[in-house]
Amino acid sequence: MKLSKGLVLASVGASVLFLGVAQAVKEAISEEELGYRNQTLYDEKPVAPPKVEFIKTPPGSGKKFARAYENAPPQIPHSVEGLIPIKPGQNACLGCHMPDVAKSVGATPIPKTHIALDLFTKGGKKKELKIDPARYQCVMCHAAQADAPPLVKNVFKPEFRDPQAKQKSTLFERWKEGLP
Ligand code: HEC
Ligand code: HEC
Repeated sequence: MKLSKGLVLASVGASVLFLGVAQAVKEAISEEELGYRNQTLYDEKPVAPPKVEFIKTPPGSGKKFARAYENAPPQIPHSVEGLIPIKPGQNACLGCHMPDVAKSVGATPIPKTHIALDLFTKGGKKKELKIDPARYQCVMCHAAQADAPPLVKNVFKPEFRDPQAKQKSTLFERWKEGLP
């Protein structure tokens, strides 16, 4: 009796598994369709990405895109022509975005997350503000705004706990959340 009950259960389990596999096979993406180019992967000819038009307006006059998600790096709402490449000792971005100058040129100051840590550790004395070396190469994370429709439909919808976070960073206040 026990055995047959077990058998019934096993066969039900097997059919569920079979149906699951059959479904997965039906939805499988063929090898040719893998990838983001919307072209067969077996043809190398039409692979050039569509031309992208980057923002041309100078700092201060462009319209800002909303942040992609809470505390995402904001995109650069102005032309970066002549400002990149950023090299050691040559970073034009700092000239406008360091907190001590930003206000006078109407730019958002870099947030506290971008300031070298020794500022906070050396007895709280006021020292010269320094950029964290890990943040020196701004364009590693901040991309210039561009008219570039997504190549693949994007269904991601960001949720902002604080509506202000759509335009403003809140990471410094939040990044220790959940820590004891
Ligand atoms: C001549 C001054 C100037 C220079 C140089 C400059 N910016 Fe800006 N930047 C501005 C101004 C003005 C704005 C618009 C106001 C604002 O949102 O900060 C801005 C906006 C931004 C924003 C959007 C800020 C936000 O809150 O959405 C980012 C990101 C940014 N710049 C990054 C850069 C990077 C990276 C560089 C170097 C490649 C750079 N900027 C060089 C003046 C400047
Ligand atoms: C390693 C990635 C990274 C680098 C490099 C980086 N940023 Fe950011 N940046 C971010 C992220 C993520 C945020 C949003 C969260 C935060 O405040 O840290 C941000 C936020 C900002 C903001 C918006 C601040 C606000 O109050 O809303 C400005 C302006 C900015 N960065 C400018 C710069 C400049 C200028 C540089 C280069 C000197 C730079 N960033 C380098 C990742 C980066």
